[in-house]
Amino acid sequence: MYKVKDAFFKKAKKEGYLARSVYKLQEINKRYRIFKKGDKVLDLGASPGSWLQYIAKMIGSQGKVLGIDINPIKWSQTPPYVHFWQRDVLKWDCEEAKTLSPFFDVVVSDMAPLTTGIKDVDAYRSFKLAERALDIALKLLRAKGHFVCKVLEGGEMKDFLLKCKRYFSFVKVFKPEGSRRESREVFIVGLNRK
Ligand SMILES: C[S@@+](CC[C@H](N)C(=O)[O-])C[C@H]1O[C@@H](n2cnc3c(N)ncnc32)[C@H](O)[C@@H]1O
Repeated sequence: MYKVKDAFFKKAKKEGYLARSVYKLQEINKRYRIFKKGDKVLDLGASPGSWLQYIAKMIGSQGKVLGIDINPIKWSQTPPYVHFWQRDVLKWDCEEAKTLSPFFDVVVSDMAPLTTGIKDVDAYRSFKLAERALDIALKLLRAKGHFVCKVLEGGEMKDFLLKCKRYFSFVKVFKPEGSRRESREVFIVGLNRK
């Protein structure tokens, strides 16, 4: 168990990424080809910044990525096409994002609540964040845009999946190898917004 953690942690350090979570997004992108050069991407729950680093590489300087988090990122010298705003998504008026780009090609969310250790409470809070991420995605994504969202498996996941299926042509639940085995986190991948 800890071997896996150490391997990804060390790899991230060696490759200059701010967190091991980057390998989950990399795996998702390799499987589902989420990003392309020039994309406009919204990254919800972006701190400390490893997904931002990876997305920036994938979209290149013709693209744009906006990270949102309650906490600041640890990437000090972001290139001009990487933006970060410190916001609480549960209170954020996401129309503000349109000042940066009128629409987004991809919305990703790696948001996680502060955990209590009480399974149902944690799953419920995670579901609330995922629901908010979906609401934001539906407001900002272009037609055929993609959505990737972390959620903890729990009672509400089934409803969340059904909702995603209403809005995306292809929906899958994906558990990356980079996720700790004991963790109940999974990623919902929604391709091609209807
Ligand atoms: C697992 S971390 C994200 C790691 C990030 N993807 C990376 O690669 O560096 C989860 C993040 O969700 C953020 N978060 C939780 N609730 C939030 C909220 N209501 N609004 C904005 N961000 C939130 C936390 O502050 C935390 O930084």
